[in-house]
Amino acid sequence: MRIILMGPPGAGKGTQAELLVEHFQIPHISTGDIFRAAIKDQTPLGLKAKEYMDAGALVPDEVTIGIVEERLKKEDCQKGFLLDGFPRTVAQADALTKILESLNMTLNGVVNIELENEELLQRLTGRRVCRKCGSTYHVVFNPPQNQNVCDKCGGELYQRSDDTLATAQNRLNVYHEQTQPLIAYYEKRNLLKRERGDQEIKQVFHEILNVLE
Ligand code: AP5
Ligand code: MG
Ligand code: ZN
Repeated sequence: MRIILMGPPGAGKGTQAELLVEHFQIPHISTGDIFRAAIKDQTPLGLKAKEYMDAGALVPDEVTIGIVEERLKKEDCQKGFLLDGFPRTVAQADALTKILESLNMTLNGVVNIELENEELLQRLTGRRVCRKCGSTYHVVFNPPQNQNVCDKCGGELYQRSDDTLATAQNRLNVYHEQTQPLIAYYEKRNLLKRERGDQEIKQVFHEILNVLE
């Protein structure tokens, strides 16, 4: 299964990705997670990505595309993959089309999770993430059993530095300007599946499975 998960910041891409990669037993490729890991390890990539992420802007295409290309060539992607948060610009989408052609791979679907700005902001500002395993929670919509402790691994929960109201608002603007055009891009290629994000996590998951299978 080869899937792209698209949608604005906070729509639930990461939450659904956790469930989908478990179901299909495929690797989860999140460019945001790759950048956050690089920042944590203070690599040159991390230092570069950090200034863009902190501003809520996109990391430049030439950096991002190379990372995804390398990742898709790894052996474990032979059984499929889920791309979460890539592509986000038309240049990235064009590059991905070429990369997949060269690897002789086709996409099963591009799932676009849709949600209004007001709800997106509530989700982003209330999100908490596990430092150890990366699982995602929400202080109101999906709280952990014990405050600030991960249900799955007992790790400490933290708030992403780009989840402040001001940065989140900026990310939404960037999404509408640079990423939304990809909806038409994949619609034209008959790959787009629209999914309503304003439903229970489990319900969204089952609907995504239905449109993919
Ligand atoms: P990235 O990490 O990808 O962030 P994003 O796209 O802004 O998306 P989020 O991770 O914020 O939201 P999500 O859709 O995953 O929602 P989640 O499931 O967590 O990118 C971060 C930055 O990296 C970018 O700003 C950019 O700088 C850079 N970057 C990354 N990729 C790039 C690229 N391709 N090109 C250039 N730059 C790139 O859910 C959100 C909250 O809602 C959680 O609290 C969750 O518990 C809750 N929730 C989820 N589903 C539901 C539901 N159904 N009901 C109620 N609550 C729910
Ligand atoms: Mg995410
Ligand atoms: Zn955890």
